[in-house]
Amino acid sequence: MAQLTILHYPDPRLRIKAKPVREVDERIRSLVADMLETMYEESGIGLAATQVNVHERVLVLDISEDRDQPLCFINPKILHSEGEVSYEEGCLSVPDIFETVSRAEFIRVAALNEKGEHFEMDAEGLLAICIQHEMDHLEGKLFVDYLSTLKRSRLKTKFRKKAKRAPVSRDAGRSRISAPVI
Ligand code: NI
Repeated sequence: MAQLTILHYPDPRLRIKAKPVREVDERIRSLVADMLETMYEESGIGLAATQVNVHERVLVLDISEDRDQPLCFINPKILHSEGEVSYEEGCLSVPDIFETVSRAEFIRVAALNEKGEHFEMDAEGLLAICIQHEMDHLEGKLFVDYLSTLKRSRLKTKFRKKAKRAPVSRDAGRSRISAPVI
């Protein structure tokens, strides 16, 4: 297993639309293992392949308190969505930014697992939010896209400035994290 490098906003590669996985083989299983390791290492609760510069429809998540219930969705599709919920979200690709986003409250999702088996799952609350956030990544969409143009352009300026400065320690600001980093 290996820890992967996470792309940061406004990296244009975060805008690439991911392609369906053609075959769930060893290469994909190894990607899933590396993505899980990276997600746990970075204290995120979800990670999409797009964020590690692999443009295939794979996402992993774990919303459990003990970080011991990994989930993997390959070629996920939302079959049904219902209701609306607003939640403050963060993202490993947009460090230290937390914004409230409105999403469907209940979803039914179909996907393949890491063995290539089809499954369907009903999700609500944080799990539903997390799946939708990660599926957006696969479409090249980021949670900041839901913000107003003004707010987003301020963010972009901030991140460009940040990129020019020396990198801040990875733990900087971590104590302020209140919302899930997806
Ligand atoms: Ni994210």
